[in-house]
Amino acid sequence: MSFKRYLITSALPYANGPIHIGHLAGVYVPSDIYARYLRLRKKDVVWVCGSDEHGVPITLKARKEGITPQNVVDKYHKINKKSFENFGISFDIYSRTSNKIHHETASDIFKTINEKGGFIEKITAQYYDEKAKQFLADRYIKGTCPHCAYEEAYGDQCEKCGTSLSSLELINPKSAISGSAPTLRETKHWFLPLDKHEPFLREWILEQNKHWKSNVYGQCKSWLDAGLQPRAVSRDLSWGVPVPVENAEGKVLYVWFDAPIGYISATKELTPDWEKYWKDKETRMIHFIGKDNIVFHCIIFPSILNAEGSFILPENVPANEFLNLEGDKISTSKNWAVWLHEYLEDFEGKQDVLRYVLTSNAPETKDNDFMWKDFQARNNNELVAVLGNFVNRTMVLTNKYFGGIVPEISATTEYDKKTLDEMPIIRGKVEKSIENFRFREALKEAMNLARLGNKYLADSEPWKLFKTNPQRVKTIMNISLQITTNLSLIIEPFLPFTAEKLRNMLQISAIDWEKIGLDNLLKVGHQIKKPELLFEKIEDKTVAEQVAKLEIAKKARLADNAKVTPAKENICFDDFAKLDIRTGTILEAKKVPKTKKLLELKVDTGIDTRTVVSGIAEFYKPAEIVGKQVSIVINLAPKKLKGIESQGMVLMAETPDGRLEFIRPTTKINNGLEIK
Ligand code: MF3
Ligand code: ZN
Repeated sequence: MSFKRYLITSALPYANGPIHIGHLAGVYVPSDIYARYLRLRKKDVVWVCGSDEHGVPITLKARKEGITPQNVVDKYHKINKKSFENFGISFDIYSRTSNKIHHETASDIFKTINEKGGFIEKITAQYYDEKAKQFLADRYIKGTCPHCAYEEAYGDQCEKCGTSLSSLELINPKSAISGSAPTLRETKHWFLPLDKHEPFLREWILEQNKHWKSNVYGQCKSWLDAGLQPRAVSRDLSWGVPVPVENAEGKVLYVWFDAPIGYISATKELTPDWEKYWKDKETRMIHFIGKDNIVFHCIIFPSILNAEGSFILPENVPANEFLNLEGDKISTSKNWAVWLHEYLEDFEGKQDVLRYVLTSNAPETKDNDFMWKDFQARNNNELVAVLGNFVNRTMVLTNKYFGGIVPEISATTEYDKKTLDEMPIIRGKVEKSIENFRFREALKEAMNLARLGNKYLADSEPWKLFKTNPQRVKTIMNISLQITTNLSLIIEPFLPFTAEKLRNMLQISAIDWEKIGLDNLLKVGHQIKKPELLFEKIEDKTVAEQVAKLEIAKKARLADNAKVTPAKENICFDDFAKLDIRTGTILEAKKVPKTKKLLELKVDTGIDTRTVVSGIAEFYKPAEIVGKQVSIVINLAPKKLKGIESQGMVLMAETPDGRLEFIRPTTKINNGLEIK
């Protein structure tokens, strides 16, 4: 299929924190390479992005810092827009979802679907905070996880065992706003009946989109095979796009309903011609995202577009896996990240080094790690030793022997021809890789042009020939200069700053991509400049400083964990006396199948033998705890966990590093003794 034009979208980052290398490697660097490549090929392309400014985390952050949500998004929108620019991320527009045009666009789409009868309205019971007088979004509710007994689980997910939850499943739910126990209240919401779109999605994804990356296709297939349910697209919140119908006060659109529509609003803001990008089947739309966004871009947003009826669907969604940092998951809240705005300060002028490292190590097919040692090695061994070295030798020798004037070719050898013939082949490989979203492979091929040049110089040894055969040296330098010129072009999508620097040294302006492979791009007699170094070595000290910076973040986090939590409210003695805690002995222990954290214990309580399900499997092997004494609460109402009735709770203390330690008698005593 051939396309008239391209519409590229990159996931809109939440404006509740700065951009880090995980965002860059997963989404923004690959889409920048793609957009730059298409522009160099003179395609009609529009690339949109912007800040995602709605959603609960932004309101939580505002509350925590005592400022308004608008203050939060203003701050991060500004930081992120600027650091993207400084990093050479060449969006055609970086918009934001708090814009008027976005509110209008999202409202219009909601209204159109609503008028077509595309939503179902349902009244459901939701948690309500009587003190704060507001409904509680899932993220605003904390409680005990029914699967692993972790007490700080959120209403949408337990971060300890990773299970996704609904707030109604939490044991002892508490409002994250006031700390009080929430009540249930009825509230009306709009649901998008994904089940109705299922036949369309099956046909479109499973039949027509077999060319998608296997991780993307596979995730969609498992969602479809599990069966789709209606999904609420409104929330009881005050921050967001208001639900545009009568009697919907206090309700806004769900952030994942409005955010992807941000791609449309940004295009509208960019050009009055926006409809040709969104409504003409000859546009190829590509969504660049991380893997946690797949369901939203491949199932939910297409269902919204399908329900609305007038928009095109993405032709491809090349989602990436995750980038980890020095072996640990990148986390904004845990401050475990390399932040783009800090990198730009610490490594001024070295944008391309990070772009290079993130592309060579891109998490395209599996999660990868960013290591500072590897950053240093790739800079020193590849950028400096291969690319920089070849360019520098060519420039230095041309200046030394010929005063910087491009010498003529007299006679070419077989080897010269073979070398020149390689150039169009390399170009073909780079194109094919980029067009298939294999950017690390594409970069490697582009670097092969520099390798080719290095080998050519090393094999031809002009420095040994100059005295005896200056004519031959002219040919060698001409060919080396042609390779250098081709390099300045082929690296442009990946290393735009270096490409520009190189063109400036060669005293040429931008050349069309289609010319790559030609052996006469630099004319005989053309004057080049004196060389400057394209890259410089990165010393051990520099990366050690970065590692030390991370260590500080890690220590701060541990110190934070080590802080004892503040005392709870006083209770009266009677409250305490209600608890029945006994000494007991573990008689049996075994893992609960298909869980990571749970052990099923049989405990002799002195009164009877109880089954207790306990979230300690990560820390204790069944064999090592059998026969051990414990303290056990025996009058907690029984609770089913993974189908097993748990009839008590073994007391544990949680250590700062997250381990659980038994609280037990120090000498062996009878079972069934009251602890009071
Ligand atoms: N803000 C989301 C995230 O960071 C991405 C939104 S993508 C869009 O995961 F489609 F909604 F725009
Ligand atoms: Zn859990």
